[in-house]
Amino acid sequence: MSLETKILAKLDYAEYYILIVDDTPANLGVIVDYLEQYGFGIMIARSGESALQKVHYSPPDLILLDVLMPTMDGFEICQRLKADEATKDIPVIFMTSLTGTEDKVKGFEVGAVDYVTKPLHQEEVLARITTHLRLRDLTLGLQEKNRQLELSSRTERERLFEAVNQQREQLRALANRLTEIQEAERKQLARDLHDHLGQILTAISINLTAIKNELPPDCTPQVNERLAEASTLTAQTLEQVRELSLNLRPPMLDDLGLIPTLRWYIKQYANRLAIETKFEALGLEERLSPELETALYRVVQEALNNVAKHAQASQVQLRLERKGGAIVACIEDNGQGFDVAKVIGRKGMVNGTGLLGMRERMTLLGGRLDIRSRPGHGTQLLVEVPEENGYAQDKNIIG
Ligand SMILES: Nc1ncnc2c1ncn2[C@@H]1O[C@H](COP(=O)(O)OP(=O)(O)OP(=O)(O)O)[C@@H](O)[C@H]1O
Ligand SMILES: [Mg+2]
Repeated sequence: MSLETKILAKLDYAEYYILIVDDTPANLGVIVDYLEQYGFGIMIARSGESALQKVHYSPPDLILLDVLMPTMDGFEICQRLKADEATKDIPVIFMTSLTGTEDKVKGFEVGAVDYVTKPLHQEEVLARITTHLRLRDLTLGLQEKNRQLELSSRTERERLFEAVNQQREQLRALANRLTEIQEAERKQLARDLHDHLGQILTAISINLTAIKNELPPDCTPQVNERLAEASTLTAQTLEQVRELSLNLRPPMLDDLGLIPTLRWYIKQYANRLAIETKFEALGLEERLSPELETALYRVVQEALNNVAKHAQASQVQLRLERKGGAIVACIEDNGQGFDVAKVIGRKGMVNGTGLLGMRERMTLLGGRLDIRSRPGHGTQLLVEVPEENGYAQDKNIIG
């Protein structure tokens, strides 16, 4: 099988329309018959104007274009076709004279894909036509594949993005739920410690007093001493249990709210550590949501613990303010400060989890926490958190 037949074998000619443009149709008779025999649809135009009109109304798959024509020559027709977005991809093959080398060059310059020389050789014309039709089909196929690929990768990207977003939302909701459970457990533990253990210790203490009162007068001093020791230990343990219970979660946070609880906490803190403390609360007479009160209480608690543990400060100031739908808090100490960039690496925290936990609590409520510190210049924690947050919606995400 010759190459020509091979090329021809794969095309269904009846699917293609060819426009032949020539002002002397006598020249065309033979080639038109020949191509029609193969099944091609043929349109003929005798001038440039008529050709452009035909292309406009019924775009062919390929154009055979004569160079020399009276009103508009082939080059101009070709240039116009190539300048128009709708027709620029139709392959144009020039029909030139044997001697017209310059015409051939110019033909390529104005956008032709090939040329055939007159007088036309039927097989050659057929071979060139089929080659360029196949090339055009391949190009169109590739363009379509590319378009589909682009489309599917875009859809895939969007799907992935959506999935990641959904998971992030679920994680956020889970983290919220976890904090909630943690607080509930603390509350329960604090209550159990206070009520159960506290009552038992109180009962022991009462019993010890009763035993002491009922001791026989001839009782040895050692027994008296042991009893007094047991009473002291019981009283101390009771005090520790109360303190532990309060630190786990002071009931006044639920009963009286954030500001009175912070006042109590800071007073206790200052007494224990001999650090001068200042506390200011502005516009916070009304209660905040329970989640926000708990989160702010925990943030202040951790910040003050950090001051006690790391700052070696003599003063700490806490200021809370309600400002345009948000709560703004600043906790500032005059201690030794630290290099924030070193402690908070790019990938998160290097030491401890306190600062990380604070930041997470604030992020979960749609707020943020900024840390400003420099060695030798004290530390400032700035919190800004909206009063309203997407917390209630989050609960629905994990059902
Ligand atoms: N107010 C502060 N003054 C000086 N250094 C601080 C202060 N707050 C934090 N830091 C520094 O930042 C580090 C990280 O604090 P973070 O609260 O995250 O962890 P931690 O207190 O060391 O441990 P954890 O809180 O988990 O018990 C601390 O180890 C300390 O070096
Ligand atoms: Mg800490």
